Amino acid sequence: MEQYAIKGGTPLRGEVEISGAKNAALGILAGAIMTDDIVTIENLPNVKDVNVLLCALEDIGAVVDRIDTHTVKIDGSSINRLSVDYEYIKKMRASYYLMGALLGKYNEAEVALPGGCAIGSRPIDLHIKGLRALGADVDQGYGLWSAKATRLVGNHIYLDKVSVGATINIMLASVLALGKTTIENAAREPHVVDVANFLNSMGANIRGAGTDIIRVMGVEKLHGTTYSVIPDQIEAGTYMCAAAATKGDVLLRNVIPKHLEAISAKLIEAGCIVEEFDDCVRVIAEDQKLKSTQVITQPYPGFPTDMQPEVAAVLGLAEGISIVNESIFENRFKYVDELNRMGANIKVEGNVAIITGVTSYNGARVSAPDLRAGAALIIAGLQADGYTFIDDIQYIQRGYEDLEGKLNSLGATFAHVTTDAEAQKFTLKNNKVS
Ligand code: UD1
Repeated sequence: MEQYAIKGGTPLRGEVEISGAKNAALGILAGAIMTDDIVTIENLPNVKDVNVLLCALEDIGAVVDRIDTHTVKIDGSSINRLSVDYEYIKKMRASYYLMGALLGKYNEAEVALPGGCAIGSRPIDLHIKGLRALGADVDQGYGLWSAKATRLVGNHIYLDKVSVGATINIMLASVLALGKTTIENAAREPHVVDVANFLNSMGANIRGAGTDIIRVMGVEKLHGTTYSVIPDQIEAGTYMCAAAATKGDVLLRNVIPKHLEAISAKLIEAGCIVEEFDDCVRVIAEDQKLKSTQVITQPYPGFPTDMQPEVAAVLGLAEGISIVNESIFENRFKYVDELNRMGANIKVEGNVAIITGVTSYNGARVSAPDLRAGAALIIAGLQADGYTFIDDIQYIQRGYEDLEGKLNSLGATFAHVTTDAEAQKFTLKNNKVS
């Protein structure tokens, strides 16, 4: 049994250092094997998804040298398998970035097919369309997708839907292709830009990342580099929401405020004060009354779908009726039943959540249905009256580094417990304190 145990009711106060961006790190680590030189990646978040991908790299023969908690050196010269096992894909979908990277470097790859997941069916048709346009023969069957080409050749690719994954996978495959690739209707997320900047630091020629047209001029070879991953937009947003829900005052360090603008805008509409500095953001919610607002998830620079559950946990405490519209994934309201068990008043109709604010949550034993839904339950637990115990924390561990250390440094009472006895001890100890 593993759980997060929270005694709620304390406003978060103080400073917190935001880790490197998980989703950028995943694209970057896949790209790192595309040269036979050594690549050093810094500011890697120490989270499960990253560690799974590092194991997948080792499994195909790359040498991964963990210099410290946040730095690795990768040597892709010793790769001896062009096949990525289901073991990795089932733990972490984005292992499929190895398709773009291996195909780009070796003109051949085979990767287990990712299935649907907790938040939706998540097809990969756009990835396949893109790789086919570059001249690869792509086959699907027996739980695998495989791709082969004599030589990839640049092409014009229009993505019918804005997709982070397809944009990154096609970018990876095209950097060593012959000639020019244009990706139209590309995703503009900060992590797409970070992967492009990383590949350019290896000698790639990618222009336009961050706009909806990315142009890649293929180069003969990539070389080694040292690169530092950008800060995590979603981890930062999660702490911003936790500050708001608990009516606290938190300074987030090591962030890029521009990446947080949509989140800041919604928290300001909800009645918080958000101050921006060069690489810090401060959220002040003490003495503020939370007000209802409307949120619709959109590709960047719109409001991120990965922040939808967390902001809903804040709006669950805002006076009036808030509307949250999820436009990206079809199954992203699984936290609602759990939040309602904690006293929230949320109804879901189709892809819209109608949230009637309550004055406080109450602690309960709940289960995390997926990564960001789990983060929403933590936020609720931090605000709630009494104790919250969250099961299924393996989802949350995929994407948040050192929650215990970071939250407790902000004054929370939060623990990772592994037995019933530890959970009981947590309650007893904290009953005594109060
Ligand atoms: C990435 C993020 C995830 C985030 C999501 C949206 C990583 C590792 N994960 O996921 O945290 O929630 O972006 O910001 O970076 N689609 C298709 N066909 C495809 C690919 C996608 O129809 O071939 C659809 C999806 O079902 C979804 C939409 O496009 O409705 C966006 O998905 P996409 O941006 O690809 O998400 P991921 O890259 O999987």
